[in-house]
Amino acid sequence: MVGGAALRGEVAVAGAKNSALKLMAVALLATGRSRLTNVPAILDVTIMAELLRRLGCTVDYDAAAGVVEIDVPHDIGHRADYDLVRALRASISVLGPLVARCGAADVAVPGGDAIGSRGLDLHAAGLEALGATVHVTHGFLVAEAPEGLHGAEIRLEFPSVGATENVLTAAVLAHGRTRLENAAREPEIVDIAQMLTEMGARITGAGTSVIEVEGVRALTPVEHAVVPDRIAAGTWAFAAAATRGDVEVVGGVAEHLSAALELVKASGAEVTVTDRGFRVDSGGRRPKAVDVATLPYPGFPTDLQPFAITCNAFFVNEATVTENLFEARFRTVQELNRLGAETRIDGHHVMVHGVERLSGAPVEASDIRAGAALVIAGLVADGVTTVSGAQHIDRGYAGFAESLRGLGADVSREPDEDFFL
Ligand code: EPU
Repeated sequence: MVGGAALRGEVAVAGAKNSALKLMAVALLATGRSRLTNVPAILDVTIMAELLRRLGCTVDYDAAAGVVEIDVPHDIGHRADYDLVRALRASISVLGPLVARCGAADVAVPGGDAIGSRGLDLHAAGLEALGATVHVTHGFLVAEAPEGLHGAEIRLEFPSVGATENVLTAAVLAHGRTRLENAAREPEIVDIAQMLTEMGARITGAGTSVIEVEGVRALTPVEHAVVPDRIAAGTWAFAAAATRGDVEVVGGVAEHLSAALELVKASGAEVTVTDRGFRVDSGGRRPKAVDVATLPYPGFPTDLQPFAITCNAFFVNEATVTENLFEARFRTVQELNRLGAETRIDGHHVMVHGVERLSGAPVEASDIRAGAALVIAGLVADGVTTVSGAQHIDRGYAGFAESLRGLGADVSREPDEDFFL
């Protein structure tokens, strides 16, 4: 299509991918049937379901209803194979629950991915502090605690989301008290802590940088609704501002997105909290470019950084976007340049000079967020933009093309995995 339509109307966000996958791992901590609702309809949930099945669980995933039911037997396996971990890096979140439940976990070490090297050293150090021995052998991270885990005082060098989750999910069944300092504070951590608490865990401080856990002997299965996806909600906020549109994000939680919505406001759009979520109204104006630096929550999320770069590429003036969490997470940039963006990368910074209009061209998605950001770029570019590698977008956004069409965009999704705008 010819870019240019302002997005208007309402769009709904489902549960957060990065919470749903972890909550599925949390279910392993209790024998019996747990039920998750508000689960997004994405491939990653199917992969995590397969991983849990191989551990001996029965998993029913009704993607249309957004429900996953996991029946966990008393005795479960403790091995996560490479074929699944490779397909889904979030598989690493079974590490904590497996060591806590089985006294052992063999989890294949994920390979590097497209957004920079990501270590597991903090996960390993946290579990070691809780009494496990951890080593890597034949491509597996092996954690063992045959006598069980014990509480500990742990300080993470960096507030890693994954390491915080694995320490938390291991500590809930450890003997005694754990104090985790410099913990990640993301809403997804709070969601996990909430489900654990409903299961009978004793946790205080989730959502702050100090989490305390008093270990209990056993947990019971529960029903839990996944927290709304703040990154999907933020994507719609940027899409509304970018296309000079007016969109209500139903289910979006503005307070989970303060830093991102401040930026959208600073660019000139109006953001209001509504009964059902929040609304971004650009007033039809071309927004102003705004400097951004990614930081751990509650700072500006790295997952929204590609959208900030994309928007600045055609907003008024110029701005610098700084990536502080991941190396090499600037893959959007070279593709944006194909659309006529004027950018310069200097280490962790990208200087972006806003051009009046981008110009449609074929581009390639390298990961979920870069892919969605390129689609937004295509929405404001002259002529036809084709985003290949659209299967990456499906990993984070169920029905992205349908949602865009519902807001007035002329977008089609080709079965041959390309995304035509
Ligand atoms: N890090 C280490 N050692 C560790 C753990 C992390 O050095 O033991 C470093 C990583 O190399 C990275 C930084 O710490 O540079 C951040 O890693 P973190 O552990 O916080 O992130 P994660 O748990 O691997 C989750 C999300 C990512 C999101 C980041 C940051 C999931 C499945 N993934 O990753 O989301 O970018 O937090 O918010 O929850 C996505 O959804 O597309 C995605 C990549």
